[in-house]
Amino acid sequence: MQVIAVMNYKGGVGKTTLTANLGAAVAARGHRVLLIDLDPQANLTFSFYTVEQWREELRKDTTIMRWYEGDAPGREVDLHRLVVTPPLVNHHLADTGGRLDLISSHLKLIDIDLRLAARLGGGTTLGESKRKFLDLHGCLARALRHESFQEYDLVLIDCAPNFGLVTKTAIVASDHVLVPAKADYLSTLGIHYLAGNCDDLVAEYNDYVNHGGRDGADQPIQTRFLGVVFTMVKIYAGKPIGTQQYYMQDVRLNAQIGVLNGMVRDSPRHFGDAGEGGVPAMLRAPLTDEVAVEFGRLTTEILDAVEAGAKQ
Ligand SMILES: Nc1ncnc2c1ncn2[C@@H]1O[C@H](COP(=O)(O)OP(=O)(O)OP(=O)(O)O)[C@@H](O)[C@H]1O
Ligand SMILES: [Mg+2]
Repeated sequence: MQVIAVMNYKGGVGKTTLTANLGAAVAARGHRVLLIDLDPQANLTFSFYTVEQWREELRKDTTIMRWYEGDAPGREVDLHRLVVTPPLVNHHLADTGGRLDLISSHLKLIDIDLRLAARLGGGTTLGESKRKFLDLHGCLARALRHESFQEYDLVLIDCAPNFGLVTKTAIVASDHVLVPAKADYLSTLGIHYLAGNCDDLVAEYNDYVNHGGRDGADQPIQTRFLGVVFTMVKIYAGKPIGTQQYYMQDVRLNAQIGVLNGMVRDSPRHFGDAGEGGVPAMLRAPLTDEVAVEFGRLTTEILDAVEAGAKQ
């Protein structure tokens, strides 16, 4: 089981669209995939359930908020009890042998970072407070070690566009970080900082673990960047348009993170409805569809990189 956090604290860069379609594409290859929606906007959740279905079937008992709530994450309910199997998309996957499960989000997750921080309270010393925070960063990693998650080949975590506590729990829980980005000035600017912030988090967490962690039971982490995936790429005459090429090259040359060869092109026809149909576009597209073929290559590249990273 390998875990990928799909993360960029820049908003609207195609994180959720990539997570939903990548999850579906991997499941269509016969794998078992779990998606975790950690964004209070719950866009990933609403890619698979209508708002009415979510209200009636999931809102009360089966969202990630129940897990983060309470005295500490996981006190109220075990994470694996929150897994649901969205019917429509799995109906589409029926002949593939694959499965796509989901842990849904809640619109009220919006202030969870504040509530978690408040609940931690101040320690009597600075060191004690810091240890409590670092311990909290490991909560999702610990929960995903439960045997019921080992049946999955891949777990994809859709992060909110921030670097708050919940996002940090996702990074600590992940083997890999995938960074969707638009090829424009503001999006590429953030990538330079993102790599450093993630590396600092990993180093701090490992320092905590190496000094005993929680009862010596935690493991050091080796979260790696899978790379930047350019999204919403405008193709003209077979190539990205000039301005986008300029920013893509800038990231290739200057960012500490590699760039994947594959990309997601700008195609409102495929990706513009933000998954309202309950089945991601890449599952609905005909096999010969140019965008679907391109997305298939990106899927292969990501799976190969995950496998290579897992062997290291
Ligand atoms: N390749 C694409 N082509 C055209 N439209 C796209 C593409 N990818 C995403 N979109 C559209 O762009 C908008 C933002 O995409 P998405 O919600 O996936 O971004 P996000 O990074 O998850 O946003 P947020 O930071 O708010 O979570 C959505 O309306 C989506 O339908
Ligand atoms: Mg999103």
